[in-house]
Amino acid sequence: MIQRSLLLIKPNAVRHGHIGHIISLIEKGGYHLVALKLFRFDRGLASEFYAEHLGKSFFDKLVDFMMSDDTVAIVVEKENAIQDLRELIGAVEPEKRKPGTIRFLFGEGVTENGVHASDSELSAFREIGVIFGAG
Ligand code: PPS
Repeated sequence: MIQRSLLLIKPNAVRHGHIGHIISLIEKGGYHLVALKLFRFDRGLASEFYAEHLGKSFFDKLVDFMMSDDTVAIVVEKENAIQDLRELIGAVEPEKRKPGTIRFLFGEGVTENGVHASDSELSAFREIGVIFGAG
């Protein structure tokens, strides 16, 4: 099934000049780029995006990090995009990241993990709406 997913290139990866390399890995993976924008999260937008983590111990640190520099948001499309993109980015936990995954290459910890990708079709739909608007 053709699916859309949302990829975020997070502030630490933007800060260190990895936008081009990450987009190149996405293109080589066969993803069609549907929409792309560079922006800076404010507290309201970051809190809305990460609403499912509200109340967790790491929430404030995560929101502060997401506001710390620019982010690149990309809507990608391909067959089985949700699961395939999660595999391409690699695990949240640093010790579980496979060599060659984007987080293995560009992640610097659990919070500064380089990229985000939607974990389900429902999440993708919601996240794309939050970042790009409902229309
Ligand atoms: S969880 O814990 O099962 O809800 O994990 P997950 O759904 O994969 O998403 C975790 C996101 O929160 C960020 N984050 C942390 N997670 C766990 N522990 C700590 N300490 C932590 N700090 C930040 C993590 O970077 C994931 O963000 P995304 O944008 O999804 O990669």
